[in-house]
Amino acid sequence: MTTLHLNANNPDDIARAASLLRAGELVAIPTETVYGLAANALDPAAVAKIFAAKGRPQDNPLIVHVAEPSQALPLVKGFPFTAQRLADAFWPGPLTFILQREDHIPEIVSAGLSTLALRVPAHPAAQVLLRAAGIPLAAPSANRSGSPSPTLASHVLYDLNGKIAAVLDAGSCTVGIESTVLDLTSDTPLLLRPGGVSVEQLEKELGRKIEISPAVAHALENDAPAPSPGMKYKHYAPRAELTLVHGPLEAFIAHAKHVKPDGLLVFDSDEISLDMPMLHYGDCPEQQAQQLFAKLREIDELGWCTAFVRCPAKEGLGLGVYNRLLRAAAFREVFL
Ligand code: TXA
Ligand code: MG
Repeated sequence: MTTLHLNANNPDDIARAASLLRAGELVAIPTETVYGLAANALDPAAVAKIFAAKGRPQDNPLIVHVAEPSQALPLVKGFPFTAQRLADAFWPGPLTFILQREDHIPEIVSAGLSTLALRVPAHPAAQVLLRAAGIPLAAPSANRSGSPSPTLASHVLYDLNGKIAAVLDAGSCTVGIESTVLDLTSDTPLLLRPGGVSVEQLEKELGRKIEISPAVAHALENDAPAPSPGMKYKHYAPRAELTLVHGPLEAFIAHAKHVKPDGLLVFDSDEISLDMPMLHYGDCPEQQAQQLFAKLREIDELGWCTAFVRCPAKEGLGLGVYNRLLRAAAFREVFL
């Protein structure tokens, strides 16, 4: 199949994307977090195509996207007060709720679980498209399963060209890491994946602590049950072997001199005079989130086999950046 390259600023292209989606085809769409690989969430055959195109394990459920909070209500069995409050504060935006799935939602969307992941994306093109299509859209990140998530249409095409009907190009995603996934099926909200809305923001809004799944910052034990199936899989990983390095810059430089990896991924403000290939991924958590996945892809383009990465601070969006890097590095960490 030829993958159409559509322009999100062209109304005809939006209409084309919407009609492809209504016809059961796959379209990669821009969101404020990362590009998503969308299909009609109410059509099990269309949703099955997502798993095939990505090579996604069958037990890893998808997020359903709607244009506004009121459209989320019929998809779930009840919308608790906490969900209402967080939706008022953060929707549309990079926050996903896990709630009990209503029976008419095809099981394949949530990979057989009784729950459903729901999000209202803020990206203007996603908003216009959802309204034009008039259907809820199931959409995981639009990468080959296991690869870094796409923050540009070119990343989507690199992974999925010829396997999907179209990509709707709106330039680069502003947040850069995926949405925060919050399980609201029990009394205390449980963070399953840190992302575009920080723990601090959630706790401030709710006026109380939330629980953080141990899997956010640690490898799951081999036979431990995964509260979120996506936690089990190798993720976001370039082909290169990454090592996440904690500690001060001087120690990082000394360690790099000694071990001599093929390259370094460091902060913009790091002053390093080493004769070694280097990429930078910003200084503050917002910049790091926005640039991270593109830089991981660049590491492979440069053909590095090994790389050292300066560990980000874990506050705010930094927790999400750390969580992605930890998985990209297959949990290889060095503390200096
Ligand atoms: O920002 C995002 O969330 C992007 C954009 C496209 O919206 N989407 C995204 O989807 O990151 P995906 O499939 O790459 O990640 C969804 C995560 C996975 O880790 C999955 O296991 C988890 O959410 N998830 C989905 N449904 C779930 C459920 N019912 N219970 C627990 N975890 C769930
Ligand atoms: Mg993903």
